[in-house]
Amino acid sequence: MKYRTLGRTGVEVSVLGFGAMRLPQRGREGEVDEPAAIELIRWAVDHGVNYVDTAYVYHAGAGEGVVGRALRDGYRQKVQLATKLPIWSVERLADCDRIFQEQLDRLQTDHIDFYLLHCLQKTYWPKLRDLGVLQWAERQQAAGRIRHFGFSFHDSYEAFVEIVDAYPWSCCQIQYNFVSEDVQAGTRGLQYAAAKGLGVIVMEPLFGGTLANPPPTVQRLWDSAGAGVRPPDVALRWVWDKPEVSLALSGMNALDQVRQNVASAERSGAGTLTADERGLLARVRDEYQRLSPIPCTKCGYCLPCPSGVNIPVNFELYNQATVFQGSSRLLCRNLYLSLPESERADACARCGTCEDRCPQHLPVAELLQRTSEHFAAADGP
Ligand SMILES: NC(=O)c1ccc[n+]([C@@H]2O[C@H](COP(=O)([O-])OP(=O)(O)OC[C@H]3O[C@@H](n4cnc5c(N)ncnc54)[C@H](OP(=O)(O)O)[C@@H]3O)[C@@H](O)[C@H]2O)c1
Ligand code: SF4
Ligand code: SF4
Repeated sequence: MKYRTLGRTGVEVSVLGFGAMRLPQRGREGEVDEPAAIELIRWAVDHGVNYVDTAYVYHAGAGEGVVGRALRDGYRQKVQLATKLPIWSVERLADCDRIFQEQLDRLQTDHIDFYLLHCLQKTYWPKLRDLGVLQWAERQQAAGRIRHFGFSFHDSYEAFVEIVDAYPWSCCQIQYNFVSEDVQAGTRGLQYAAAKGLGVIVMEPLFGGTLANPPPTVQRLWDSAGAGVRPPDVALRWVWDKPEVSLALSGMNALDQVRQNVASAERSGAGTLTADERGLLARVRDEYQRLSPIPCTKCGYCLPCPSGVNIPVNFELYNQATVFQGSSRLLCRNLYLSLPESERADACARCGTCEDRCPQHLPVAELLQRTSEHFAAADGP
């Protein structure tokens, strides 16, 4: 296993972390196959993984309990344990106390190594800040119940910078992979946070697994690179190629996946991707782009919209919800619904201002209507 220093914390973490959001299941939602999950987590730790990430809400609230039991028998002492505060459930500081104590009980521990505000977005940030959640976390740190404090993030680069600048966070967790390098915090956010001393923890390095199961035209590109070239391996090593990344979490749910990803981690290193691999990833990225139904280049020339619609973000979410399968689609839908109402596609007043400015000559209003209808569909994208 390779290890890196996690920002200003100075903690040495394995470049591969165990993301406990996708533990093996027995079929019904939330019913974790606990013996299998414990075997995976312990196998990973036995092979050098020393960072385990969970959250209050994973597996409908059952995830932390499983992780707590996986870390019995001396495993807790071998890992940095991360979990997250469900910020949408916090109305007063007493909620933080109650939830945090429940988390310690579920995880069978007296402290959390990395405690994160879960899914911080600009819509929640002022409320949490004004409620005193930062000072609450400092009190837990002083009492030894939290070692390091940070946030996980799903919003725009601008919101990311505002939040990074607002507090001396230890770390942040961002969505990052080779097809969404300029989405959300993106490469700019990664570099910004790392330069300010934050450890940067990458989530969804395989875009929730969708990069490991490509559509046929993308699969043909991978096949053309040779028999030994596997999408998850190259995609993970693309993340580790960036020196600013502290570690990448993968939500592994089978022993083969853990074995493969540990092997990829062992071959990883900043600046180690070959020119052939970079070229292949560029072709794969272009093909995903070609499959995207709206050819928006995210240039931003259409902004500002007089009604406040965030045109490129809406198109990005629609494209991703269309091209990718499974959990990525659900994530796009949730991200769309978490945009402020004025920024969503359905706030378009069809004034036409943006269409005059768009260098791609896109029928923006019509495409926004399509986007709005797509996400409004009762069964989601
Ligand atoms: N804070 C947040 O807001 C937030 C949001 C998302 C994630 N997270 C955390 O970040 C972790 C990582 O994100 P993620 O789970 O989305 O990671 P990911 O690595 O992008 O996706 C995990 C999925 O990739 C597939 N996979 C992994 N290794 C593979 C391999 N070697 N070969 C083939 N397929 C492979 C599996 O999909 P199949 O199930 O299809 O086999 C697995 O479920 C999560 O588990 C969670 O702890 C946090
Ligand atoms: S057409 Fe819609 S999106 Fe474009 S500027 Fe007018 S209100 Fe904004
Ligand atoms: S101007 Fe056109 S291409 Fe550029 S971000 Fe707006 S819609 Fe997309």
